[in-house]
Amino acid sequence: MVSNAVVSHSIFLLIFFCSSAISIPDSNQTMFPMACSTIMKCDASLYHINNGQQTKSEIAAAYSVNPWQIQPIQRGGVEDYLITVPCSCESADGVSGTAYFHDTSFRVGTGDFLSDVSNRNYSGQVWIFGDPLLVAGEEFGVKLLCGCVEDESKIVVSYTVQSRDTLSQIASLLRADATEIHHLNTKLIEDPALIVPNWVLFVPMYKNAYQNTKGPTMKHVWTIVIAILSTLTVVSLGTLAVIFIRRKFKKSKQNNDTRNSRAPSRSFSTFGTSSFQYPFSKPKSEAQKRSFRQDVSAFESEKTLIFTVEEIEEATANFDESRKIGEGGYGIVYHGVLNQQEVAIKKMKSNKSKEFFAELKVLCRIHHINVVELLGYASGDDHLYLVYEYVPNGSLSDHLHDPLKRGYQPLSWTTRTQIALDAAKGIEYIHDHTKARYVHRDIKTSNILLDESLGAKVADFGLVKLVGRTNDDELVATRLVGTPGYLPPESVKELQVTPKTDVFAFGVVLAELITGRRALIRDNQEPKRTKSLITLIYTIFQGENSEAALEAVVDGNLHGSYPMYDIYKMGEIAAWCLNEDPVGRPEMHEIVALLSQLMTSAVEWEASLGGNSQVFSGLFTGR
Ligand SMILES: *[C@@H]1O[C@H](CO)[C@@H](O)[C@H](O)[C@H]1NC(C)=O
Ligand SMILES: *[C@@H]1O[C@H](CO)[C@@H](O)[C@H](O)[C@H]1NC(C)=O
Repeated sequence: MVSNAVVSHSIFLLIFFCSSAISIPDSNQTMFPMACSTIMKCDASLYHINNGQQTKSEIAAAYSVNPWQIQPIQRGGVEDYLITVPCSCESADGVSGTAYFHDTSFRVGTGDFLSDVSNRNYSGQVWIFGDPLLVAGEEFGVKLLCGCVEDESKIVVSYTVQSRDTLSQIASLLRADATEIHHLNTKLIEDPALIVPNWVLFVPMYKNAYQNTKGPTMKHVWTIVIAILSTLTVVSLGTLAVIFIRRKFKKSKQNNDTRNSRAPSRSFSTFGTSSFQYPFSKPKSEAQKRSFRQDVSAFESEKTLIFTVEEIEEATANFDESRKIGEGGYGIVYHGVLNQQEVAIKKMKSNKSKEFFAELKVLCRIHHINVVELLGYASGDDHLYLVYEYVPNGSLSDHLHDPLKRGYQPLSWTTRTQIALDAAKGIEYIHDHTKARYVHRDIKTSNILLDESLGAKVADFGLVKLVGRTNDDELVATRLVGTPGYLPPESVKELQVTPKTDVFAFGVVLAELITGRRALIRDNQEPKRTKSLITLIYTIFQGENSEAALEAVVDGNLHGSYPMYDIYKMGEIAAWCLNEDPVGRPEMHEIVALLSQLMTSAVEWEASLGGNSQVFSGLFTGR
């Protein structure tokens, strides 16, 4: 009798205990691990909310993945990450039966609580059961919630609900179906209209929604990546070899030089392997650093690209506050004089890799009147100094938005057209005429600089690619793949970056030239909401009377002095650039051709005014 009672009691306890974690929802529980189906292992994806405090390599280490398993994803102007992880069927404390987890570990810091680490470093996706003891300095193993589904066309994303998220927003962010999300998360979601921040949802995302997760495994992608890298390496090795041989040839011809101690084969292998290894790691040892320095100098072109930190300090009077001419996500910009030339020196934090320097050297070789020239660089302990030609007249953004406040005369229509044409030529050059087809990725009016005669030059070209490896919070969060207000739908949704990304952003620049408005305008009534110029252009060109609608938003700083027909033409080009479908957008060279016509027309228009007006742009007096 007694033993019977004990047995039934313990059975009851057992049932209670086993089912508590998964099927009896504590009203505050934010996560339920996904119970295993017949699948034992799959690739899953973890959505990492980026707080901007860790570099990609730190994030990779925290999740025990390689940096290339981390893809950026845009969420309302912020860059987060999708992390592809192996997900397997396991048992865990507090879980009845088995469920899907990704295992990783972290080194415990003093005073760390598991829940804090989970929220801070793992977007709140750590499975926490009970109150585990964390010992500072030791590795602590954690299980992150992940999921597998039978449907091969989908990959499950673990997504932590953020405040103000709705199910349909999450569905569109991750290319999933809201109903399917509901079905996969019935333990949390009772009413699809009600989802709560911090819930960890399993979102079945269509694999082909994001390019890099195509195919049944990542292997497929690897093959492509490696193939591309090898091709690039072979091509660049070829180029380097030619340069090297030429230099050697020259040298030995000139003065029967003593043998160069740097054997080419060694230099080549250093360059060759760099692409395959961790692109984010610093050179490991002093010796490696030294050998890299040698490699760099071995392939230097006639022009000196590399400066010493001492030279930079001298040029900027030790980074004197009075020399500061700008400050942005990339770092601080100083004015300086180097080799009797005025320069702008950008000081930025950086952990440099070989790849990084190779990239810089390529950028130094790009010369075009409408591209701000990178003259060279210097590298200190943890800083990089980029030396640019000095462009004295501020940015287009400064000249367009509240120009008088900054001491500039408002730009005339003719000058605006010329600036548009100049910038378009600069972008066309980096798209079509550089060896590697570059994409700027951050075209905007503050990246278009003006010289003394208001000639325009595209700045910060190539930087987006380089800064991915710095620790600068702001840029990791907002600058890495462009600027909100200039981003086309496909880079927000699908992470695609093509020359058409720049074309889209250039459409916004044209719209700014016409309207004088900023790309994003805060709504005074609702401070949380912003209006974009993109939407404005869509509204105008999809509406009935586009011309009147456009005229209504023309920049007041033009004081009514403009050829409306040309404004409308430029508006049409802007709308064309802003086509939601990248294929429907023009190529940069087509834009250059159209703007050239507009320029001719603007000159004729200005001539017809007889030069007696305040809009006279100075075009005939030296430009
Ligand atoms: C849920 O959280 C609230 C406050 O956050 C707390 O008062 C309540 O006891 C919790 N309920 C359970 C079942 O843990
Ligand atoms: C967690 O994030 C903080 C910054 O938010 C960072 O300092 C720390 O190193 C991270 N820890 C791990 C294990 O990644």
